Amino acid sequence: KKNEKALVIIFGGTGDLAQRKLYPSIFQLYKKGYLKENFAVIGTARRPWTDEYYREVVKDSIDGMYDEQTVATEFASHFYYQSHNVTDTNHYKTLQALAQSLDEKYQIGGNRLFYLAMSPRFFGTICDHLKSQQIMTETGYNRVIVEKPFGRDLASATELNDEISKSFPEEDVFRIDHYLGKEMVQNIAALRFGNSIFNSMWNNRYISNIQVTLSEALGVEERAGYYETAGALRDMIQNHVLQIVALLTMSAPVSFTDTDIRNAKINALKCLKIYSPEEVKENFVRGQYGPGNGLIGYREEAQTAEDSMTETFVAGKLMVNTMDMAGVPIYVRTGKRMKTKATRIDVVFKQVPNNVFEDSDLRHDVLTINVDPEPSLSLQLNSKTIGQGFDFDTHHLNLDYKLSPEQRAAIPEAYEKLILDAMQCRASNFAHWKELQCSWKFVDAIRQAWDQNVDQVAFPNYDCASMGPKASDDLLAKDGNHWEFNC
Ligand code: BG6
Repeated sequence: KKNEKALVIIFGGTGDLAQRKLYPSIFQLYKKGYLKENFAVIGTARRPWTDEYYREVVKDSIDGMYDEQTVATEFASHFYYQSHNVTDTNHYKTLQALAQSLDEKYQIGGNRLFYLAMSPRFFGTICDHLKSQQIMTETGYNRVIVEKPFGRDLASATELNDEISKSFPEEDVFRIDHYLGKEMVQNIAALRFGNSIFNSMWNNRYISNIQVTLSEALGVEERAGYYETAGALRDMIQNHVLQIVALLTMSAPVSFTDTDIRNAKINALKCLKIYSPEEVKENFVRGQYGPGNGLIGYREEAQTAEDSMTETFVAGKLMVNTMDMAGVPIYVRTGKRMKTKATRIDVVFKQVPNNVFEDSDLRHDVLTINVDPEPSLSLQLNSKTIGQGFDFDTHHLNLDYKLSPEQRAAIPEAYEKLILDAMQCRASNFAHWKELQCSWKFVDAIRQAWDQNVDQVAFPNYDCASMGPKASDDLLAKDGNHWEFNC
């Protein structure tokens, strides 16, 4: 379906996210014809920008993405700026009038997509005003896209959700988790439910363990102010990691529709074992990077406390107690300043029940899903070496997609996919409130145990450019396992 009709109203229109991700993504949708003449964007923020200045900013953010200047100019002409104080009711009246006139000018038919790309503490007042000042329309859809972080624990997330749901019903709330827009994350369901070899084997009878790594080479960069209050558990585990775990462990959805997919994910997350403090100590590891390999440690970064106890690394063993997955350890880890930037999933299958090749060591079959930096799949198998005798070797069936530069450039960025999903009302790549409830409950238990210092950890405990603290390797070794991804 092409030519979406939409008025996008971005709160936080001058911000970093808008410039780095949103404007380029909206431009891609425009270039590909999903947006044509029937769309407009209103950017709001406190700064007193003019439309002209705003359009220059928009053009700057898409620099290098077009051949002809006229395309950029025509695209930017759909952008309007309103200086806006989110707590001032009068400003919403101006916004309402502007929205109404743009709706008529571009014949949008009342479809409104509100994008909240600013501090969550304003979400409540923004949503209240959108409703009370009739910026929400009667004639089209009214959907709200909410950026992370969605709360910092279950209590604050609930409060936030209550505020939003006074104006928007659950089906109109699109909570962004940009990992759900990544090609290979979306491919998990395709692999699992589209192939009988995986579909039939995706359970505790055949899977030994699953490993999920989201490693980053960068440090906290200029976000230390936020990161000090969040830490890796809230920043990555609560959202991205648990969403991936849900996709890896959910039962087959009844059909591939939003409701059924989300129900399947909710059920999986409901089955996440919530740990007692003692179990947290057993099953979770936290880390913080110290100086190493020519890089400064976390505590030396600008805006961090010199005795900061913020974790920049987490590894854990999760159990999802569904009938099919009970007993399969799901090992996860994520961290800043690790050796490499990679998002990778390894599904380690059990060995054959009886090795008839007595003299040969057979390895586990492993399905590897590389999400970042390059999408690819690999299946590690035991097979005979070519030649005389009967020796075994480990071989890999690799699928690297062999993308040409053009194809690579054409891969939609996560935000591009997700914004289009929201316009077309495809909600399955956004987190449902019930998913968040489960994930916060799980994460809160860990946070609370750590706040009581059950593990008596001392920071820093891993070097920059390493794969995290030794305790992360020990976590798997205790079960006789090891990280398959060990660069
Ligand atoms: C964000 C986190 O959600 O994801 C960042 O807040 C992190 O700390 C980022 O760097 C990683 O995303 P990606 O797509 O680069 O792996």
